[in-house]
Amino acid sequence: MIEKNTLEVLERAASTLEQGFKKLPEFKPSVDVKAIQMVLQTVAHRLQNNYPYQHPFYIGQMLKPPHIMAQLAYMLTMTLNPNNHALDGGRESSKMEKEVVAEISDMFGWDTHLGHLTSGGTMANMEALWIAGQIHPHKKILASTQAHYTHQRITSVLKLEFETVEVDQFGKMCLLDLENQLKQGDIGTVVATLGTTGMGALDPLSDILKLQQKYNFRIHVDTAYGGYYTLADNLSDDGRMIYDCLSQVDSIVIDPHKHGLQPYGCGCILFKDPAVGTYYNHDSPYTYFSSDDLHLGEISLECSRAGASAVALWATQQLLPMTKDGEFARGLTRCRKAALTFYEKLLTSSHYRPLLQPELDIVIWAPEAGTASEMSRLSRNIFDRGASEDLHMALINLPQKLIQAHWPDINYDEEHVTCLRACFMKPEHMDWMDRIWDKFEKL
Ligand SMILES: Cc1ncc(COP(=O)(O)O)c(C=O)c1O
Repeated sequence: MIEKNTLEVLERAASTLEQGFKKLPEFKPSVDVKAIQMVLQTVAHRLQNNYPYQHPFYIGQMLKPPHIMAQLAYMLTMTLNPNNHALDGGRESSKMEKEVVAEISDMFGWDTHLGHLTSGGTMANMEALWIAGQIHPHKKILASTQAHYTHQRITSVLKLEFETVEVDQFGKMCLLDLENQLKQGDIGTVVATLGTTGMGALDPLSDILKLQQKYNFRIHVDTAYGGYYTLADNLSDDGRMIYDCLSQVDSIVIDPHKHGLQPYGCGCILFKDPAVGTYYNHDSPYTYFSSDDLHLGEISLECSRAGASAVALWATQQLLPMTKDGEFARGLTRCRKAALTFYEKLLTSSHYRPLLQPELDIVIWAPEAGTASEMSRLSRNIFDRGASEDLHMALINLPQKLIQAHWPDINYDEEHVTCLRACFMKPEHMDWMDRIWDKFEKL
């Protein structure tokens, strides 16, 4: 929630900003405060109908409250509303965008990059696959059956051939199935996901890199959800090894509006080889006049993009630098610790069974029952009762072939089991774990 003293900080920054334009004749747009107040009160009432995403009792979907630093920087910048398409539209905010993108690229250990912010992960993946299609126009794109659903949709928009690769019982890309498909020889790009949306699984990137040497394909990593976890210091050894391979891939997508503490409208695409910039070559007769420096619209599929997003991210990275020993990294470590703690509590419960030890911060579990259909029914019941008592979880449908190795004793009278799912994305979840567990047990 908005704290009064942070609004004072914003007011002070707004008058500093105004100083920069004080040589202009005074100009104030007319504002009917009373009318605005009435409408805003209606807005506030209507928004009460949303779930309480900001509260630690919300452990449902991938929703993380933006840091107050990001909110303030965004609000301040919105008063100018720069457009980072061209330097003409966002001179300083474009510089800030280049700086934050370079810092993200550094975080992955890259010494070269070409990249920019996008409106989200889907647009960022679209650019990665568009470039993949430009480089290998007649070759297929592969992603696992647990990859984000938009990869298939994006390839259909781009008119590129797409195939899925099976996953193993851990929800990770199956290397045997991948190699079988690679042997056919028409694969241009493999999409590996680090932090699948459903299960938070990490595809086996080190092995995929070994296959790349044999079969020669591009590797795009969709780490929209999990990318920042490269900073956490409590990954499993296998997880650490996977993240340490990121410096070797061709392109990466990461979403600052997921674990990067940003408001929505902030994804990021990075290419290792800056030469891919040539594929973006286009003529814009209306923009790019104010400077010979790079206008971000020259290397972006989208035209208008919010300069405020770049400034909010810049301010957040200043306050919370992306270093392994910093507060930002400690926040991620705590998220995974919260997920592991919840998982361990489930292990000792006689009412529930967890599916897997979480690789990141997503936990999946189900109520004990003899049949798949009864497990699903109970999961849905508990999901509803939790929501009515202010403990907000999520659900996930998983196929028998994925979960049978973990739960062989169930009678699979249905092919899918609906399980409960939680994303422990807030650093505060760890402090709230006993209260969350108490509330959950009472369900
Ligand atoms: C792994 C992964 N990729 C891509 C996306 C799509 O990102 P966005 O919702 O920002 O478009 C998501 C969203 O949850 C995701 O988890």
